Amino acid sequence: MEFDHAGIATDDRDTLIDLYGTLFDASVAHEETFGELRVAFLDLGNGYFELLEPTDDAEGPIPNYLDKRGPGVHHLALRTDDIDDALDAARAAGVSLIDEEPRPGAWGHDVAFLHPGSTGGVLIEFVEH
Ligand code: CO
Repeated sequence: MEFDHAGIATDDRDTLIDLYGTLFDASVAHEETFGELRVAFLDLGNGYFELLEPTDDAEGPIPNYLDKRGPGVHHLALRTDDIDDALDAARAAGVSLIDEEPRPGAWGHDVAFLHPGSTGGVLIEFVEH
């Protein structure tokens, strides 16, 4: 398993694209509106920052996160070649799953989240490209 990306909740995606582009020489690898989120993946060379900005009047985990905690790191994503196997291994280890089955995520990837209560307070996403 390899590091894939850090998911960052923001209310100003475009400013962060400019800032991180200047600071980290990170270019936009992919952009889309996914559900109620404006998403951008910035290529850092050995992984990505996934910027997550709610559209106007969006509801869901990211707007809730921003309301409660403000902008910041929301989750860390690890890439796996077999997300079903990864979920089985997590289940076998007694980890609580937010997603019992993989679901479609941004950029056409399959994703599944582990419950942070089982993983040291870190929201972990498995992602299969
Ligand atoms: Co993510």
